[in-house]
Amino acid sequence: MTDYQNPNLVVHPGKVRSGKITWRSPSNIALIKYWGKYGNQLPRNPSISFTLDAAYTETILEYGSKVSDKPGVSVDFMFHREHNLQFSNKIERFLTSLLPIFPFLSQIDLTIFSSNSFPHSAGIASSASAMSALALCLCSLEDELFGTLSDDAEFEQKASYIARLGSGSACRSIFSKAALWGETPDVKASSNLYATGWGHHLHPIFTTFHDDILIISKDEKSVSSTAGHKLMENNPYAETRYMTVDTRLKRLISALKSGDVERFGAIVEQEAFGLHGLMMLSEPPYLLMQPSTVAAIQRLMSWRSSTKIPLYFTLDAGPNLHLLYPDESASKVAAFIRSELLPFCVEGSFIPDRVGNGPRQL
Ligand code: DP6
Repeated sequence: MTDYQNPNLVVHPGKVRSGKITWRSPSNIALIKYWGKYGNQLPRNPSISFTLDAAYTETILEYGSKVSDKPGVSVDFMFHREHNLQFSNKIERFLTSLLPIFPFLSQIDLTIFSSNSFPHSAGIASSASAMSALALCLCSLEDELFGTLSDDAEFEQKASYIARLGSGSACRSIFSKAALWGETPDVKASSNLYATGWGHHLHPIFTTFHDDILIISKDEKSVSSTAGHKLMENNPYAETRYMTVDTRLKRLISALKSGDVERFGAIVEQEAFGLHGLMMLSEPPYLLMQPSTVAAIQRLMSWRSSTKIPLYFTLDAGPNLHLLYPDESASKVAAFIRSELLPFCVEGSFIPDRVGNGPRQL
Protein backbone atom coordinates (compact mmCIF):
# COMPACT_ATOMS: atom_id res chain seq x y z
CA MET A 1 0.00 0.00 0.00
CA THR A 2 1.36 3.42 -0.96
CA ASP A 3 1.80 5.71 2.01
CA TYR A 4 4.57 7.89 0.61
CA GLN A 5 6.42 8.09 3.93
CA ASN A 6 10.05 8.81 3.09
CA PRO A 7 12.59 9.71 5.80
CA ASN A 8 15.23 10.29 3.10
CA LEU A 9 13.66 13.49 1.81
CA VAL A 10 15.82 15.78 3.94
CA VAL A 11 18.02 18.66 2.79
CA HIS A 12 21.51 19.67 3.90
CA PRO A 13 21.02 22.46 6.43
CA GLY A 14 21.93 25.87 4.98
CA LYS A 15 22.18 24.52 1.44
CA VAL A 16 18.68 25.29 0.20
CA ARG A 17 18.43 27.89 -2.55
CA SER A 18 15.40 30.09 -2.16
CA GLY A 19 12.72 29.81 -4.80
CA LYS A 20 9.10 30.19 -5.71
CA ILE A 21 6.50 27.78 -7.12
CA THR A 22 3.05 28.76 -8.43
CA TRP A 23 0.12 26.55 -9.32
CA ARG A 24 -3.40 27.36 -10.46
CA SER A 25 -5.82 24.56 -9.64
CA PRO A 26 -9.54 24.37 -10.33
CA SER A 27 -12.51 23.25 -8.31
CA ASN A 28 -14.53 20.22 -9.43
CA ILE A 29 -18.17 19.19 -9.36
CA ALA A 30 -19.02 15.66 -8.27
CA LEU A 31 -21.58 13.80 -10.38
CA ILE A 32 -21.57 10.82 -8.00
CA LYS A 33 -20.84 12.27 -4.58
CA TYR A 34 -18.27 11.42 -1.94
CA TRP A 35 -20.39 11.35 1.21
CA GLY A 36 -19.11 9.59 4.29
CA LYS A 37 -15.52 8.77 5.17
CA TYR A 38 -13.42 6.63 7.50
CA GLY A 39 -9.82 6.35 8.72
CA ASN A 40 -7.51 9.00 7.37
CA GLN A 41 -9.73 10.67 4.77
CA LEU A 42 -10.77 7.48 3.00
CA PRO A 43 -14.08 7.55 1.14
CA ARG A 44 -16.96 5.23 1.99
CA ASN A 45 -17.92 5.13 -1.69
CA PRO A 46 -16.46 5.93 -5.10
CA SER A 47 -17.12 9.34 -6.67
CA ILE A 48 -16.67 10.85 -10.12
CA SER A 49 -16.44 14.51 -11.09
CA PHE A 50 -16.02 17.03 -13.86
CA THR A 51 -13.00 19.26 -13.40
CA LEU A 52 -13.96 22.93 -13.65
CA ASP A 53 -12.18 25.85 -15.26
CA ALA A 54 -13.16 29.35 -14.08
CA ALA A 55 -13.39 28.58 -10.37
CA TYR A 56 -9.79 28.09 -9.27
CA THR A 57 -7.24 28.83 -6.55
CA GLU A 58 -3.85 30.28 -7.35
CA THR A 59 -1.18 29.40 -4.81
CA ILE A 60 2.35 30.77 -4.63
CA LEU A 61 4.78 28.94 -2.39
CA GLU A 62 7.99 30.78 -1.52
CA TYR A 63 10.70 28.84 0.24
CA GLY A 64 14.22 29.34 1.55
CA SER A 65 16.71 28.19 4.15
CA LYS A 66 15.28 28.23 7.63
CA VAL A 67 16.30 31.33 9.53
CA SER A 68 14.89 30.54 12.95
CA ASP A 69 15.77 27.49 15.00
CA LYS A 70 12.11 26.90 15.85
CA PRO A 71 11.45 23.18 15.48
CA GLY A 72 8.72 21.95 13.15
CA VAL A 73 7.00 23.70 10.29
CA SER A 74 7.57 27.44 9.82
CA VAL A 75 4.90 28.90 7.56
CA ASP A 76 3.37 32.27 6.93
CA PHE A 77 0.06 32.03 5.10
CA MET A 78 -1.63 34.92 3.27
CA PHE A 79 -5.12 34.72 1.81
CA HIS A 80 -5.77 37.38 -0.84
CA ARG A 81 -2.55 39.07 0.36
CA GLU A 82 -3.82 39.37 3.93
CA HIS A 83 -2.87 37.45 7.04
CA ASN A 84 -5.63 35.08 8.07
CA LEU A 85 -4.97 33.42 11.41
CA GLN A 86 -7.67 30.78 11.09
CA PHE A 87 -6.45 29.59 7.66
CA SER A 88 -2.84 29.93 8.79
CA ASN A 89 -3.33 27.61 11.76
CA LYS A 90 -5.16 25.10 9.59
CA ILE A 91 -2.34 25.08 7.00
CA GLU A 92 0.32 24.76 9.69
CA ARG A 93 -1.50 21.74 11.18
CA PHE A 94 -1.87 20.20 7.73
CA LEU A 95 1.83 20.68 6.84
CA THR A 96 2.84 19.26 10.23
CA SER A 97 0.74 16.17 9.54
CA LEU A 98 2.66 15.76 6.27
CA LEU A 99 6.13 15.66 7.89
CA PRO A 100 6.49 11.85 7.59
CA ILE A 101 5.95 12.29 3.82
CA PHE A 102 7.86 15.56 3.35
CA PRO A 103 10.37 15.70 6.27
CA PHE A 104 12.14 18.65 4.55
CA LEU A 105 9.16 20.86 5.44
CA SER A 106 10.61 21.30 8.93
CA GLN A 107 13.95 22.42 7.47
CA ILE A 108 12.83 25.43 5.42
CA ASP A 109 10.89 28.66 5.82
CA LEU A 110 7.68 28.85 3.79
CA THR A 111 5.46 31.72 2.77
CA ILE A 112 2.24 30.79 1.01
CA PHE A 113 0.05 33.24 -0.88
CA SER A 114 -3.34 31.92 -1.90
CA SER A 115 -6.23 33.55 -3.73
CA ASN A 116 -9.44 32.37 -5.34
CA SER A 117 -10.93 33.43 -8.67
CA PHE A 118 -14.40 33.41 -7.13
CA PRO A 119 -15.73 35.59 -4.31
CA HIS A 120 -15.02 34.17 -0.87
CA SER A 121 -18.58 34.61 0.38
CA ALA A 122 -20.32 33.14 -2.67
CA GLY A 123 -21.13 29.93 -0.82
CA ILE A 124 -18.77 27.94 -3.04
CA ALA A 125 -16.57 25.35 -1.35
CA SER A 126 -12.98 26.33 -1.98
CA SER A 127 -11.31 23.39 -0.28
CA ALA A 128 -11.01 21.34 -3.50
CA SER A 129 -9.18 24.05 -5.44
CA ALA A 130 -7.17 25.32 -2.45
CA MET A 131 -5.96 21.93 -1.24
CA SER A 132 -5.16 20.68 -4.73
CA ALA A 133 -3.15 23.85 -5.50
CA LEU A 134 -1.20 23.46 -2.26
CA ALA A 135 -0.57 19.73 -2.88
CA LEU A 136 0.75 20.51 -6.37
CA CYS A 137 3.10 23.19 -4.97
CA LEU A 138 4.42 20.72 -2.37
CA CYS A 139 5.06 18.02 -4.98
CA SER A 140 6.82 20.53 -7.23
CA LEU A 141 8.93 21.59 -4.26
CA GLU A 142 9.89 17.95 -3.61
CA ASP A 143 10.84 17.59 -7.25
CA GLU A 144 12.87 20.80 -7.22
CA LEU A 145 14.80 19.80 -4.12
CA PHE A 146 15.31 16.10 -4.89
CA GLY A 147 14.37 15.46 -8.54
CA THR A 148 12.12 12.61 -7.41
CA LEU A 149 8.86 13.37 -9.26
CA SER A 150 9.87 13.92 -12.87
CA ASP A 151 7.45 11.26 -14.13
CA ASP A 152 4.12 13.01 -14.83
CA ALA A 153 1.95 10.07 -13.77
CA GLU A 154 3.83 9.65 -10.49
CA PHE A 155 3.67 13.37 -9.86
CA GLU A 156 -0.11 13.49 -10.39
CA GLN A 157 -0.73 10.44 -8.24
CA LYS A 158 1.26 11.83 -5.34
CA ALA A 159 -0.34 15.28 -5.70
CA SER A 160 -3.78 13.65 -5.66
CA TYR A 161 -2.85 11.61 -2.56
CA ILE A 162 -1.62 14.72 -0.71
CA ALA A 163 -4.66 16.77 -1.83
CA ARG A 164 -6.94 14.02 -0.46
CA LEU A 165 -5.35 14.34 2.97
CA GLY A 166 -6.20 18.07 2.89
CA SER A 167 -9.78 17.63 1.68
CA GLY A 168 -11.24 14.49 0.12
CA SER A 169 -12.82 16.09 -2.93
CA ALA A 170 -9.54 17.95 -3.69
CA CYS A 171 -7.89 14.74 -4.91
CA ARG A 172 -10.14 14.83 -8.00
CA SER A 173 -9.09 18.37 -9.03
CA ILE A 174 -5.62 17.25 -10.16
CA PHE A 175 -6.87 15.81 -13.45
CA SER A 176 -8.03 17.24 -16.76
CA LYS A 177 -11.78 17.12 -17.53
CA ALA A 178 -12.89 14.29 -15.22
CA ALA A 179 -11.63 12.17 -12.34
CA LEU A 180 -12.68 9.10 -10.41
CA TRP A 181 -11.81 8.50 -6.76
CA GLY A 182 -12.52 5.44 -4.66
CA GLU A 183 -12.43 1.70 -5.18
CA THR A 184 -15.14 0.31 -7.41
CA PRO A 185 -15.24 -3.19 -8.92
CA ASP A 186 -15.75 -1.92 -12.47
CA VAL A 187 -12.64 0.29 -12.67
CA LYS A 188 -9.45 -1.71 -12.23
CA ALA A 189 -7.05 1.11 -11.32
CA SER A 190 -9.46 2.74 -8.86
CA SER A 191 -8.11 3.51 -5.40
CA ASN A 192 -9.31 5.02 -2.14
CA LEU A 193 -5.91 6.69 -1.73
CA TYR A 194 -5.96 8.97 -4.76
CA ALA A 195 -8.08 9.81 -7.76
CA THR A 196 -7.28 8.82 -11.34
CA GLY A 197 -7.78 10.89 -14.48
CA TRP A 198 -10.92 9.89 -16.34
CA GLY A 199 -11.16 12.64 -18.99
CA HIS A 200 -9.90 10.40 -21.81
CA HIS A 201 -12.96 8.13 -21.35
CA LEU A 202 -15.50 10.91 -21.85
CA HIS A 203 -17.59 11.00 -24.99
CA PRO A 204 -16.70 14.31 -26.76
CA ILE A 205 -20.12 15.84 -25.97
CA PHE A 206 -19.28 15.84 -22.25
CA THR A 207 -16.01 17.68 -22.77
CA THR A 208 -18.12 20.64 -23.97
CA PHE A 209 -20.30 20.66 -20.84
CA HIS A 210 -21.02 23.83 -18.91
CA ASP A 211 -21.52 24.00 -15.15
CA ASP A 212 -23.10 27.33 -14.24
CA ILE A 213 -23.46 27.84 -10.51
CA LEU A 214 -26.58 29.67 -9.35
CA ILE A 215 -25.85 31.38 -6.04
CA ILE A 216 -29.07 30.78 -4.11
CA SER A 217 -27.56 31.73 -0.76
CA LYS A 218 -24.27 33.15 0.44
CA ASP A 219 -24.93 32.27 4.08
CA GLU A 220 -22.73 29.86 5.93
CA LYS A 221 -24.31 26.39 5.87
CA SER A 222 -26.12 25.21 9.01
CA VAL A 223 -24.26 21.87 8.77
CA SER A 224 -20.73 21.86 7.32
CA SER A 225 -19.49 19.13 4.97
CA THR A 226 -17.23 17.87 7.75
CA ALA A 227 -20.24 17.47 10.07
CA GLY A 228 -22.24 15.98 7.18
CA HIS A 229 -19.64 13.24 6.56
CA LYS A 230 -19.69 12.47 10.28
CA LEU A 231 -23.49 12.17 10.36
CA MET A 232 -23.28 9.41 7.74
CA GLU A 233 -21.69 7.20 10.40
CA ASN A 234 -25.00 6.57 12.15
CA ASN A 235 -27.35 7.34 9.27
CA PRO A 236 -29.78 4.39 9.10
CA TYR A 237 -29.80 4.63 5.28
CA ALA A 238 -26.01 4.72 4.87
CA GLU A 239 -25.68 0.98 4.21
CA THR A 240 -28.30 1.10 1.44
CA ARG A 241 -26.45 4.05 -0.07
CA TYR A 242 -23.13 2.22 -0.09
CA MET A 243 -24.70 -0.97 -1.44
CA THR A 244 -26.34 0.78 -4.38
CA VAL A 245 -23.83 3.46 -5.36
CA ASP A 246 -21.59 1.15 -7.43
CA THR A 247 -24.50 0.31 -9.71
CA ARG A 248 -25.37 3.97 -10.13
CA LEU A 249 -21.74 4.77 -10.90
CA LYS A 250 -21.58 1.93 -13.42
CA ARG A 251 -24.65 3.27 -15.23
CA LEU A 252 -23.24 6.80 -15.22
CA ILE A 253 -19.89 5.61 -16.55
CA SER A 254 -21.65 3.91 -19.43
CA ALA A 255 -23.62 7.10 -20.25
CA LEU A 256 -20.45 9.24 -20.03
CA LYS A 257 -18.66 6.92 -22.43
CA SER A 258 -21.47 6.54 -24.94
CA GLY A 259 -22.57 10.19 -24.96
CA ASP A 260 -26.07 9.42 -23.65
CA VAL A 261 -26.87 12.89 -22.30
CA GLU A 262 -30.43 12.09 -21.25
CA ARG A 263 -29.39 9.08 -19.21
CA PHE A 264 -26.52 11.10 -17.74
CA GLY A 265 -28.97 13.81 -16.65
CA ALA A 266 -31.40 11.35 -15.06
CA ILE A 267 -28.64 9.66 -13.03
CA VAL A 268 -26.98 12.91 -11.95
CA GLU A 269 -30.26 14.42 -10.74
CA GLN A 270 -31.20 11.24 -8.89
CA GLU A 271 -27.78 11.37 -7.19
CA ALA A 272 -28.23 15.03 -6.19
CA PHE A 273 -31.63 14.27 -4.65
CA GLY A 274 -30.09 11.16 -3.07
CA LEU A 275 -27.41 13.26 -1.33
CA HIS A 276 -29.99 15.66 0.07
CA GLY A 277 -32.31 12.77 0.89
CA LEU A 278 -29.55 11.29 3.07
CA MET A 279 -29.34 14.62 4.89
CA MET A 280 -33.08 14.66 5.48
CA LEU A 281 -32.96 11.05 6.75
CA SER A 282 -30.00 11.67 9.01
CA GLU A 283 -30.16 11.56 12.82
CA PRO A 284 -30.75 14.41 13.52
CA PRO A 285 -32.22 15.33 10.11
CA TYR A 286 -31.26 18.54 8.36
CA LEU A 287 -32.15 20.41 5.21
CA LEU A 288 -29.70 22.49 3.17
CA MET A 289 -31.96 23.28 0.21
CA GLN A 290 -33.68 26.66 0.33
CA PRO A 291 -37.16 27.44 -1.05
CA SER A 292 -35.43 29.08 -4.05
CA THR A 293 -33.39 25.91 -4.70
CA VAL A 294 -36.60 23.90 -5.03
CA ALA A 295 -38.37 26.61 -7.05
CA ALA A 296 -35.45 26.84 -9.49
CA ILE A 297 -35.32 23.03 -9.87
CA GLN A 298 -39.04 22.90 -10.65
CA ARG A 299 -38.72 25.73 -13.20
CA LEU A 300 -35.76 23.96 -14.82
CA MET A 301 -37.61 20.63 -15.04
CA SER A 302 -40.71 22.10 -16.60
CA TRP A 303 -38.65 24.16 -19.11
CA ARG A 304 -36.72 21.01 -20.05
CA SER A 305 -39.86 18.98 -20.55
CA SER A 306 -41.48 21.65 -22.75
CA THR A 307 -38.38 22.58 -24.81
CA LYS A 308 -36.61 19.16 -24.85
CA ILE A 309 -33.33 21.05 -24.32
CA PRO A 310 -30.88 18.94 -22.27
CA LEU A 311 -30.41 21.07 -19.17
CA TYR A 312 -29.80 19.19 -15.89
CA PHE A 313 -28.77 20.09 -12.36
CA THR A 314 -26.72 18.79 -9.51
CA LEU A 315 -26.24 20.00 -5.93
CA ASP A 316 -23.30 19.93 -3.54
CA ALA A 317 -23.78 19.95 0.21
CA GLY A 318 -25.49 23.32 0.08
CA PRO A 319 -28.38 25.25 -1.49
CA ASN A 320 -26.61 26.41 -4.69
CA LEU A 321 -27.63 24.85 -7.96
CA HIS A 322 -25.13 23.61 -10.58
CA LEU A 323 -26.57 23.68 -14.11
CA LEU A 324 -25.13 21.09 -16.47
CA TYR A 325 -25.61 21.27 -20.25
CA PRO A 326 -23.71 20.78 -23.51
CA ASP A 327 -22.23 23.76 -25.30
CA GLU A 328 -24.56 23.31 -28.29
CA SER A 329 -27.46 24.41 -26.03
CA ALA A 330 -25.57 27.34 -24.49
CA SER A 331 -27.35 30.29 -26.11
CA LYS A 332 -30.85 28.98 -25.34
CA VAL A 333 -29.89 28.06 -21.78
CA ALA A 334 -28.29 31.49 -21.24
CA ALA A 335 -31.55 33.21 -22.22
CA PHE A 336 -33.54 30.89 -19.93
CA ILE A 337 -31.19 31.52 -16.98
CA ARG A 338 -31.39 35.29 -17.47
CA SER A 339 -35.15 35.47 -17.74
CA GLU A 340 -36.30 32.70 -15.39
CA LEU A 341 -33.60 31.56 -12.98
CA LEU A 342 -31.69 34.70 -11.99
CA PRO A 343 -34.61 35.96 -9.89
CA PHE A 344 -33.93 32.99 -7.54
CA CYS A 345 -30.27 34.01 -7.03
CA VAL A 346 -28.95 36.38 -4.37
CA GLU A 347 -28.34 39.72 -6.07
CA GLY A 348 -28.86 37.88 -9.35
CA SER A 349 -25.45 36.25 -8.99
CA PHE A 350 -24.28 33.18 -10.83
CA ILE A 351 -20.87 31.90 -11.84
CA PRO A 352 -20.58 30.52 -15.35
CA ASP A 353 -18.11 27.66 -15.53
CA ARG A 354 -17.40 24.63 -17.68
CA VAL A 355 -15.35 21.44 -17.95
CA GLY A 356 -11.68 22.43 -17.90
CA ASN A 357 -8.21 21.12 -18.57
CA GLY A 358 -7.03 20.80 -14.99
CA PRO A 359 -4.26 22.50 -13.01
CA ARG A 360 -1.49 24.56 -14.57
CA GLN A 361 1.92 25.49 -13.21
CA LEU A 362 2.52 29.21 -13.78
C1 DP6 B 1 -20.90 16.99 -1.14
O1 DP6 B 1 -14.20 17.11 0.23
O2 DP6 B 1 -15.41 19.03 1.32
O3 DP6 B 1 -19.07 18.14 -2.14
O4 DP6 B 1 -12.89 15.54 2.96
O5 DP6 B 1 -14.06 16.64 4.86
O6 DP6 B 1 -12.78 18.04 3.21
P1 DP6 B 1 -13.60 16.77 3.45
O7 DP6 B 1 -14.96 16.93 2.63
P2 DP6 B 1 -15.22 17.56 1.21
O8 DP6 B 1 -16.64 16.88 0.87
C2 DP6 B 1 -17.25 17.12 -0.36
C3 DP6 B 1 -18.63 16.59 -0.35
C4 DP6 B 1 -19.44 16.91 -1.58
C5 DP6 B 1 -19.37 15.80 -2.61
C6 DP6 B 1 -18.13 15.69 -3.43
O9 DP6 B 1 -17.48 16.69 -3.77
O10 DP6 B 1 -17.84 14.54 -3.82
